[in-house]
Amino acid sequence: MPVTIGAKESTFADPLGLLTDCHRRIERFLGVLRTVAGQNSGGPLSPEHARALEAALNYFRDAAPKHHADEEQDLFPQLRALDRPEAEALLRRMAQLEEQHRAAALCHAEIDSLGRRWLSTNRLSEPDVARFKDLVSILDNLYPTHIAQEESEVFPFARAVLSESAKQMLGRRMAERRGAPFEAAWRGES
Ligand SMILES: [Fe+2]
Ligand SMILES: [Fe+2]
Repeated sequence: MPVTIGAKESTFADPLGLLTDCHRRIERFLGVLRTVAGQNSGGPLSPEHARALEAALNYFRDAAPKHHADEEQDLFPQLRALDRPEAEALLRRMAQLEEQHRAAALCHAEIDSLGRRWLSTNRLSEPDVARFKDLVSILDNLYPTHIAQEESEVFPFARAVLSESAKQMLGRRMAERRGAPFEAAWRGES
C-alpha cells in the first residue's frame, strides 16, 4: 500500500489552489487510515502498514491543523469582512464548516492515541480496533461533504470576490504558518 503525498503544483501565489491541494492530501491520508483499519485486526502491523499509519498520524497531527487554521484564521475572516449580503448563506455554511473542523479534530485526537498505541505495542485490542474503525467512518462521512462544499462554494466565491492583494495576504499568511518563504513553491505537506 504505497503512500503518495502527491505532486504540489500550486504555490503561495495561488493560495486557493494550495488549499485545494491540501484536500487531496487529507483524502489520501484518510484512505491510509481506512486501509490500515480495514486490513488488520489488531495484531502487529507489517512494516509497510506501520510506516503508512505513522505518516498518516503525523500528517493529521502536525500538518492538517494548519489547513484548518488557514481557513478559520485567514480565508473565512477575509470573506466575512467583505460584508456581502448575497453571501449570507455562505457565511452560515462557513460556521458549519468550522464546527466540522472541531468534530474532525476530536476524532483525530482519539485516532492518534489509538494508532500510536498500536505502533508502540504492536497490538491493539479488539474493542480499540472497532473504535478506530468507527472514528474513521465518522471522518469518511464528514470530509467528502466538507471538502465538496469548500471546493464548490467557498473557494470559487473567494476567487471571485477577493482582491489580488487579499489573495496575496492569504498566501503570505499560509507561508508564515509553515515557516516558508512566500516566493518559494511550497514543499510542505499540509
Ligand atoms: Fe475546512
Ligand atoms: Fe479545507
